[in-house]
Amino acid sequence: MNSGLRAAIAGVGAYVPAKVLTNADFERMVDTSDEWITKRTGIKERHIAEEGESTVSMAIEASRRACKNAGIEPGELDMIACATITPDTLCPSSACYIQQGLGAPEAAVFDLSAACSGFVYCLAIARRFIEAGQFKNCLVIGAETISRFTDYEDRGSCILFGDGAGAVVLKPTEDDAKGIRYTVMHADGKGWDYIWIPAGGSKLPASQQTVEQRLHYLKMRGRDVYKFAIEKMQWLLEDCMKACDLTPDDVDLVVPHQVNIRILKSATEKLKFPMEKVYVNIDRYGNTSAASIPIALDEAVRSGRIGPGSTVLLIAFGAGLTWAGAVVKL
Ligand code: UT7
Repeated sequence: MNSGLRAAIAGVGAYVPAKVLTNADFERMVDTSDEWITKRTGIKERHIAEEGESTVSMAIEASRRACKNAGIEPGELDMIACATITPDTLCPSSACYIQQGLGAPEAAVFDLSAACSGFVYCLAIARRFIEAGQFKNCLVIGAETISRFTDYEDRGSCILFGDGAGAVVLKPTEDDAKGIRYTVMHADGKGWDYIWIPAGGSKLPASQQTVEQRLHYLKMRGRDVYKFAIEKMQWLLEDCMKACDLTPDDVDLVVPHQVNIRILKSATEKLKFPMEKVYVNIDRYGNTSAASIPIALDEAVRSGRIGPGSTVLLIAFGAGLTWAGAVVKL
């Protein structure tokens, strides 16, 4: 059933905590150097939640900004989808707290766990509810407090991650020149142990032993993720362009999951896609998982890099393994 409606991005918002961890700070924490981190990842600094801040508090602030930019009151929201792997609590969902904090009493709410691909997964789902005519105003959030699950004794992973939140409001439009054109989602559970948090779930609940063995922290097979990421980012870029019959000339901006500058360069080089059309802010935020695309999207809109009429590609991969893409006409 299709109502002939498209789902369009009506407003974007983001929030990152004030506290910053620089590469120099990491030099004091683990055996690493600014030179190594910069060369291998492109990261210079990341924002880290302070005491009292959490996935929900950051998501609420980002969402307020997105609603304001969309010209709606939070009370007008019909659905809130929050992509996160670092929820405030396992139960209830972060989206429940966000609904209450925003004051959106009518909205249907849920969290979605697809790690760094989560925001694009949620966007794809919200799009279909709008196109089907079931919901009007949908809030799609990517929010993470990865720092609370980061092992600051593991130099192979701790230097990568930052905290933050981003959100978009989707609205129905009959304007054919606007809206989400294409979405794609995939997963391959064989790669479950590429990036994972072993304890704290039903299989291995919290115990003194799990804490002592540092099993509540994120574990990562960095090199394997690296290879997978290049292959999937390349595939997504190609697939999104092919699905909408676009050439690189037709694309105004690619907003990728901010993962590692080397991964982004390798993926685009192979396709001869110009890096100037790829939005990069990993130097200032690190990898914020599900929050990275909406934070980057918000920056790109606010700086005037993209605006009404722009054709934007969103591409992401993450733990699971998962990968997802979207083509959006602003
Ligand atoms: O959203 C998805 C989240 N995951 C990712 O984004 C991970 C993707 N992978 C990567 O970004 C890269 O694999 C890393 C940045 C994690 C690592 O870079 P790499 O070029 O793949 O390094 P490597 O793992 O092959 O390690 C090379 C060397 C090793 O030392 P030896 O064995 O050659 O002596 C590591 O122990 O670099 C060492 N190393 C470090 N040295 C200084 C690993 N981490 C660090 C560090 N500082 N922070």
